[in-house]
Order: sequence, then structure tokens, then C-alpha cells
Amino acid sequence: MRKKDKNKDKREKIVQDKETEEDIILNMSLRPTKIKEFIGQKGTVENLKISLEAAKKRKEPLEHILLSGPPGLGKTSLAHVIANEMGVSITATSGPAIERAGDLIGILTNLSEGDILFIDEIHRLTKVVEEFMYPAMENFQIDFVIDKGPYAKTIKFNLKRFTLVGATTRAGLLTAPLRGRFGMFYYVDFYDTGDLVKIVRRSAKILGISMDKESAEEIARRSRGTPRVVNRLLRRVRDWSEVKGDGTITKDISVRALKNHGVDELGLDFIDRKVIHVMHSSYSGGPVGIEALAATMNEEPDTIVDIVEPFLLKKGLIKRTPRGRQLTELAYTHLALKKTEPQKELF
Ligand SMILES: Nc1ncnc2c1ncn2[C@@H]1O[C@H](COP(=O)(O)OP(=O)(O)O)[C@@H](O)[C@H]1O
Ligand SMILES: [Mg+2]
Repeated sequence: MRKKDKNKDKREKIVQDKETEEDIILNMSLRPTKIKEFIGQKGTVENLKISLEAAKKRKEPLEHILLSGPPGLGKTSLAHVIANEMGVSITATSGPAIERAGDLIGILTNLSEGDILFIDEIHRLTKVVEEFMYPAMENFQIDFVIDKGPYAKTIKFNLKRFTLVGATTRAGLLTAPLRGRFGMFYYVDFYDTGDLVKIVRRSAKILGISMDKESAEEIARRSRGTPRVVNRLLRRVRDWSEVKGDGTITKDISVRALKNHGVDELGLDFIDRKVIHVMHSSYSGGPVGIEALAATMNEEPDTIVDIVEPFLLKKGLIKRTPRGRQLTELAYTHLALKKTEPQKELF
């Protein structure tokens, strides 16, 4: 409760203060803070609302929550929304940032009853840190080891009942014991154009950008189903409108700006098309394994698995087969590619 009101004051102050327009753009997050502002993901939001309400009614902390899905779809935002709605504080860190179990002791012992500990990229916790988290998640206890050798002693330390919210782009990489300690699982999926239109209009309003419905639709359609991309494209289109036009965003300006940034009508950007082209030219359309594909492209396999592949799968441009990824008919027609003979095996 306290926290919600505080945020509201902050927003009103900023909006009234015309002088700091630059600050608004740079510092003010477009992140939704309340569940009402969180657009789309109907199923997830419905279930989450019920869990929040039930926990509040029972005056109990929420169970640990695992949020999974591709980047830019609102996992971090949801964690903040949850904290706001529960009226609790949130401490945010990430898997790679926690090097030793000791790094967590300070964080965990500072949490109050019901507080949220948000761990982004939770699949990247080291094994030692992960094991240190088990009793913390399960019994709200941690084990300190003091002294060494024959005098070593383990001391149990009781924690307040906190809620761990983990986010991951790869739920599949979580170990079974860690997975098993979460009580709720939510998956965020790509957004449809209708929801992205709402998001881009909300962002435009916050940033004081005027834009017609057609432009909003154009930007939304080309955003890879991803709110983070919608916001990024909105800023690029705005730059374009200020430099090449009179500052108003029109459909014509949007189309030109987006084309110039390499985004096509399906929302594919440079790297998406590069994956398809390499699959076509070097692997005759597949099947090809991610490792081989990444090596040919000189990219990290993680970039392809986390960012490129989910969207291409969603759009039906590639498919998964037991022997690797393969281009679909749609990929050939969309990029006007010629069919090539399957590569002959060399022996
Ligand atoms: N459901 C949503 N409604 C409105 N804006 C959203 C929504 N989801 C994400 N966004 C916007 O997209 C940006 C990226 O979302 P974020 O929560 O950081 O994604 P993730 O953590 O999954 O990578 C946020 O800053 C926010 O502005
Ligand atoms: Mg995030």
C-alpha cells in the first residue's frame, strides 16, 4: 500500500514538470507498476490476481514464483507488479551476479516478512549458490559454516518468510530440485498485435508522443510480438518523425523508419533473416543443430536459442525436428528463397 502511493506521487510530479522531459525519457520506466496496467497475458494475469488476492486475504506471503519466457515480454515488470500489489519491497539481483553463497547472506537476512527477492536469469546460478538456496526457499533457513577443519560448526539462521520470484528465458535448464521448490509457474508468451497496439499507445502517452491509430498498428505489427521491441521502435520512429518530418508520427513515417531499421512486415529483423539465410545457403534449409548454425553465423548459441528461435518457431518460419531445426515453406515464400537440393553426404 505504502509503496503504491509513493509511486503515484512520483509519476504525477514528473508528468507536471515539463522542464525535465529528457529525464522522463531517460529515467522514467515505461514499466507497468500495477496489474491493471499490465497489458495482455490474460491467463497468467487472471491466475496471478487470484493468487495475490488469496495471499492477501490469508495475510500470508506468496509462494515462490517462477516466471519464464523469451526476453522483453514482461517478466521483470511482472515481478515489480507483484511487489507493488502486495505492498512489499523488492530486492532485485540476477543469477550471474551472485558469485558466492556468501553474497546472498546479506540479501536474505535483510528481507522482511513477505518481501520479494527477484532473481533474474535464475538458470545461471552456480551449483553451490543454488544448493544454498534450497533450505532458504523451503524452510526459510540458511546454514552458516563458521571456523574450519575440526572446529567447523554449522549454525542455522532463521529468515523471514520471503517470496522468491525467479525469471528465466530457459525453464528447461533449471534443475529438478530448484524447480520443485517453486509453488507457482507462469509462462509469458509473445503478444498479439492488439495488445501491442495498447502497449505502444500507453508508452506514447507516457512519453508525450502523439500518434494515430494506423501508426500504432504498424509499429505493433513489426515488433516481434515483444513489448520491449515496441518501445524501442516507438523511440526510433519518433526520432525519424522529428528529423525527417514535423514531429508527428504518421503511418508513412513509421513504415519508412521501420524499413530503415531493417524490420520487415512480419517483424523480422536483421538477425532473424540472417538465421534463415544461413540455414538456407549453408545447410540447404536444414535440419541443422543450433551449435553448428551459431558457429557458422559467428554468434553465441544462447542468442539464437533465447532470442531468435522462439519467435521464428512462433511465426512458423522454422520447425524443430529430432535432427535439428528446419526451414518451413513459409520461410521460403517470405524471403523468396529458392529450394536447393539437399546436401549430399561426403564419404
Ligand atoms: N504487459 C505489458 N504491458 C505493458 N508494458 C509492458 C508489458 N510487458 C513488458 N512491457 C514493457 O516492456 C519492457 C520490457 O519488459 P521486461 O519486464 O523488462 O521484460 P523481461 O524481463 O521479460 O525481459 C518494460 O520496460 C515495459 O515497458
Ligand atoms: Mg527482465
